[in-house]
Amino acid sequence: MLAMIVTAGLFADAAWAAPEKVPASGFAWKDGAEVYIKVCAYCHEGGPVGPQIRGRELPAVYVQTVVRNGFRAMPAFRASEINDESLAKLAEYISKN
Ligand code: HEC
Repeated sequence: MLAMIVTAGLFADAAWAAPEKVPASGFAWKDGAEVYIKVCAYCHEGGPVGPQIRGRELPAVYVQTVVRNGFRAMPAFRASEINDESLAKLAEYISKN
């Protein structure tokens, strides 16, 4: 009986010690193109969901505002999903490509 309790305790410890898989901090998108391809293109690239946003010279400020606040059917993205620095790069990428 004692052995069972000790064993259970060991397993519980092991579970606690499991490495954190989600990078809670320190995660950063490589550049604007990466964010666009992995997050925005799903809805904004040749599909029926969202309008074309590249190649229209949309002002970077407008893109940032839409991404942070959402716009009708467009979902908002928080800083925990796309931080300010990445959003600035993303907006620049979209307005110039
Ligand atoms: C889940 C699908 C979805 C994703 C993901 C998404 N969007 Fe959108 N977006 C939409 C839809 C739908 C609209 C059109 C909203 C409307 O007019 O009702 C839109 C509209 C926009 C507009 C306004 C376009 C215009 O013609 O004025 C911008 C800018 C925009 N999205 C940027 C982005 C960016 C940047 C990303 C990536 C961070 C992104 N969106 C990700 C669905 C999406």
